[in-house]
Amino acid sequence: MSPSGQRARQFRLHDLRPRRPDARAEVLAGLSRQTKAVPPKFFYDAAGSRLFDAITRLPEYYLTRVETGILRANRAALAKAVGADVCLIEYGSGSSVKSRLLLESCRPALYVPVDISLEHLLASARGIFEEFDWLSVCPACADYSRPFTLPAAAQGLPRMGFFPGSSIGNFEPARAASFLAGVAEVVGPRGRLIVGVDLKKDADVLDAAYNDAAGTTRAFNLNMLSHLNHALGANFQLDQFEHVAAYNEGDGRVEMHLKSVTAQTVRVDGADIAFRAGERIHTENSYKYAPEEFFALAAEAGFVPRERWQDARGYFMVALLENAGVEGRGRLDGSAAAETEAARAAADGG
Ligand code: TRP
Repeated sequence: MSPSGQRARQFRLHDLRPRRPDARAEVLAGLSRQTKAVPPKFFYDAAGSRLFDAITRLPEYYLTRVETGILRANRAALAKAVGADVCLIEYGSGSSVKSRLLLESCRPALYVPVDISLEHLLASARGIFEEFDWLSVCPACADYSRPFTLPAAAQGLPRMGFFPGSSIGNFEPARAASFLAGVAEVVGPRGRLIVGVDLKKDADVLDAAYNDAAGTTRAFNLNMLSHLNHALGANFQLDQFEHVAAYNEGDGRVEMHLKSVTAQTVRVDGADIAFRAGERIHTENSYKYAPEEFFALAAEAGFVPRERWQDARGYFMVALLENAGVEGRGRLDGSAAAETEAARAAADGG
C-alpha cells in the first residue's frame, strides 16, 4: 500500500507460453489443397503491419475510422455501461487508438492485453503502462483464439473483454461462435465483451474498401508473398500475381485472393507448387453481419446483447454483450483453475 492508502499499480507479464506453430507446415498444407489458401496471419511481417496501418487511414477503408468515431462519440455511455474497476481484457496487443479511448473513458483497474507475439505485446503494453500513470497492466502472452487463464491480479474484478476491428469477421461463422464461447469462458458468468462488428451494406462500399484507388490494399495482399519469400525461402514473383477482393453477397463476406497471372511453378522451402493461369490463393474472408445475425451467433456462445452503438449510416456496430450462460467461471492461475475444473466437472455430471 502507498501512503495514500491505494495499492501500488503493477506491470507484470503473464506468460502462457503459447505453442509456436510450424510456419512451413501450415503454408505447405494450405498450398497443397485443391483450393489453395494461406492463413491470414502471414500478412503481418513488419512491412505488412505498416501497410495495414496505412489501410486504416485510407478514405475507402471506413472500418477503423467509423469504429473509432463510435467509441469517441459514446464515451460517457460506454463508461457508464462498463462500470468501475473492471479487468479489461483486450484480444490483440492493444496498440491502437481504440484501446486508448476505452482506457481513458472507462478507467479499468487492470488492463490485460493478450497476444501471441511476446515482443509486440511487451512493447505495446509498456507504452500503455507509461502513458496511463494510474493503470495496472498485466500483458498475457497467449493464443487468444483458445481460452487462457487470467493473471492472479484479475481475482475479484468484474471482467470485460474487448475485441475491436471487426476481427470477429475474419473467422468462419461457426469458428466465430466457438471463439465467443471461449471468451465467455475467460470472462465467466456475467462477464462481458465489447466487440466491433462491420455490418452488411452496399456491395459498392465494401468492394471499394478492399480495392482502394491508391493500391495500398493490393500492396498489402501481395506483401504476403514477399513475407513467404523471406520467411520460407520461397521464390514468388510478385508481378506474377494479382490482388482480387470482392464482396460475395450470398455468403455475406468479402473474399480476398491472390490470382496467378500465368501458369507457373513456385518453390516454397524445397517444395514445388504448381499454379494454373488464373488459379487463386485464398488469403482472407471478412464476414459482414446484420446486427440480428451477429446476436444470433453470440447467443450460441451464451452472450446476450446489453447495449449497442452505431454510426449514423449504420456501417459499423460496437456491441456490449453479457455472458448469461452458466458454464465455466473463467479460470484464474493456480488453485482457482483446479477449482473451476472441478466445478465444471460437477456441472457436466449433474
Ligand atoms: N481484418 C481486415 C479486414 O477484414 C484485414 C484486411 C483489410 C484485409 N484489407 C484487406 C485482408 C485486404 C486482405 C486483403 O477488414
